[in-house]
Amino acid sequence: MNGPSDAAVSAGTGAEEWYRLWLRYVPVSDAGLREAYRSHAAEVVVEGSTPIAASMRDELRAGLSGLLGVEVPVSAEPGRAGAVVAGCPATSPLVAGLGWGDELAKLGPEGFIIRSARINGHPVTVIAGGGERGALYGAFRYLRHLQLQDDLSSLEIKDQPRNNLRVLNHWDNWHPTRHDMVERGYAGSTLWQWDELPDTVDPRYRDYARANASIGINGSVINNVSAHVEFIQSENLPKIAALADVFRAYGIRLYLSVRYDSPMVLGGLEKSDPLDPSVQAWWREKIAEIYGHIPDFGGFLVKGDCEGQPGPLSYGRSHAVGANMLADALRPHGGIVMWRTFVYGKELDRIGGISEDRVKQGFEVFYPLDGEFADNVVVQAKNGPLDFQVREPVNPLFGQMPNTNLGIEVQITQEYTGGNVALCWLIPQWKEIFDFDTLAKGPGSTVRKVVEGSLDGHPLSLVAGVANTGTDRNWTGHPLAQANWYGFGRLAWDSSLEPHSIADEWTRMTFSHDDKVVRGITGILLGSWRTYEQFTQPLGLNLMVERARCRLYPEPVFREPFHGATETGVGRDRTRGGTGYVDQYPPPVADRFNDLDTCPEELLLWFHHVPYTHTLKSGETLIQHMYASYRGGVRGVGVLIAAWDALQGHVDAQRHDDVRQKLQEQLKLAEHWRDTCICYFSEKSGIPEIADEQ
Ligand code: GCU
Repeated sequence: MNGPSDAAVSAGTGAEEWYRLWLRYVPVSDAGLREAYRSHAAEVVVEGSTPIAASMRDELRAGLSGLLGVEVPVSAEPGRAGAVVAGCPATSPLVAGLGWGDELAKLGPEGFIIRSARINGHPVTVIAGGGERGALYGAFRYLRHLQLQDDLSSLEIKDQPRNNLRVLNHWDNWHPTRHDMVERGYAGSTLWQWDELPDTVDPRYRDYARANASIGINGSVINNVSAHVEFIQSENLPKIAALADVFRAYGIRLYLSVRYDSPMVLGGLEKSDPLDPSVQAWWREKIAEIYGHIPDFGGFLVKGDCEGQPGPLSYGRSHAVGANMLADALRPHGGIVMWRTFVYGKELDRIGGISEDRVKQGFEVFYPLDGEFADNVVVQAKNGPLDFQVREPVNPLFGQMPNTNLGIEVQITQEYTGGNVALCWLIPQWKEIFDFDTLAKGPGSTVRKVVEGSLDGHPLSLVAGVANTGTDRNWTGHPLAQANWYGFGRLAWDSSLEPHSIADEWTRMTFSHDDKVVRGITGILLGSWRTYEQFTQPLGLNLMVERARCRLYPEPVFREPFHGATETGVGRDRTRGGTGYVDQYPPPVADRFNDLDTCPEELLLWFHHVPYTHTLKSGETLIQHMYASYRGGVRGVGVLIAAWDALQGHVDAQRHDDVRQKLQEQLKLAEHWRDTCICYFSEKSGIPEIADEQ
């Protein structure tokens, strides 16, 4: 049976409450509204016996029964007023009979219409998808409509995703018995229990798939980009296929990260040169074997020539040649390659003309390759040129590879933004990136349009997010980090959505409609990114974290090459007089960043090395502003705590307490940053802090 697991439907406390995420389906509290809903949602009709049809039926039945507080029956055909009919023309004769085919075709296979209609003389609600996945997304959208307590009469909702690949990247490593293997994971161990699969299929996989489908995520790369060959070893494929079976019922395709030297490591070949016929044959055979186990396998994600991962450069082949070889082998099966632009360091020595400044390197390698990638390759670029810092300028590749499918990768897991200790709701950060105008084709050339493919007319559009899930019962370590997972899915579906409306939805579904709760939590989420930035890396200050794995605490001396602090000033000079990074942007953008007066202050130290005595727009000197920022950030955490405390009695005690404890930990973290950084900068600059008045 599909549908939510027992754990996902039984009401519990604390960890069990968190386990249910935003799919809690608690009874609608207003009795009048509940009654009205019952008349509009009296039975569920889903034709067909495919896995997705079964999921839809179970989700609608369980969701409606929970929300309405009565058992909502499943029927074979609409037999009463208020039936909810879901399906797509291909699998549902009822939906096909409505004559909406042309309208649905325009919305594509993942789009849907939710509309009040009449069938067999009964007033019903129809959830019609262009394809089955569209109908499934429509079913979740309909349930959300009830969760948000919106009106059910005269429904007319049409929607379709703006990006067709909405994918989680799990950075999970292979280990047959240990599960604590998530690189940059802060929520326990890997979800995938390789020692139990394929015989035992943890019901949690299904709840993972449900949660993803409910926010439109349609792909999951289950293993780390720094890949282990075990994931494509023959004996392990049945285990992976068992996961794919669970995902399939929720419209999610499974993808794998692969090591480029697999033909050598697994196949015993002498090299992994993409132009070598024996290498190509090895991949073709391996790929056919994978499809033998997983007929709808999505394809590969590759991190090549970086941080010890092998790649095509070792053979003097470009990244395009390297990617296309895999793409050609995947094409007959309908698979794709997601090829990362995250490259830097010694692996690039084989290419001439690579700059010292690390942030320039990805662009230098990929920009010249525009137009050379096969049509089933999506080049996957991190949002910024470095590595998921709390603040980075937009990756200059956006807008400048018009002849390439160019996807974006953001980091949901909080490697540099607080791990499982700090609340840092990243949706406003991602939204700023999507809204950034690259000016590549004149005003309005936003990153959103580049990624969607609408700026340059590309069929493949990808939004990838490094996942923050793990075996912690609350899924994400910090319970409020669930909102980053939720928001990622919503923005991947529609990157024009506004953060405040995403926060509002999430809060209502996860907590309640109590005005105080909605206003309070929405405000807390929306303020948290800036607060984190304030007490860690104000003004675009680069990498400051320790070298240790947890990346939580500052180690400014060690990171001097990144943030560039000297006795007289701080920041990296990336202007035309410095490393010249600015000129990787189109001229009007480059000019803005290059000029100290027009460079946005939040990116000042990213682009400029500035004297401590420099006067900012506020009239403060740079150094006094930094000191004040560290203190202000600590006060900001205090504000978050006070706002949370004000919700005591409005949020159940256990969940209130869980978050409170986390916020207290965050306060200690912020104080540590403040003390370390003020001490470091005052010693470095010799300029004391002017006493903070507040
Ligand atoms: C960062 C991160 C690594 C990760 C890498 C990547 O450097 O710390 O854990 O492997 O990014 O994105 O490939």
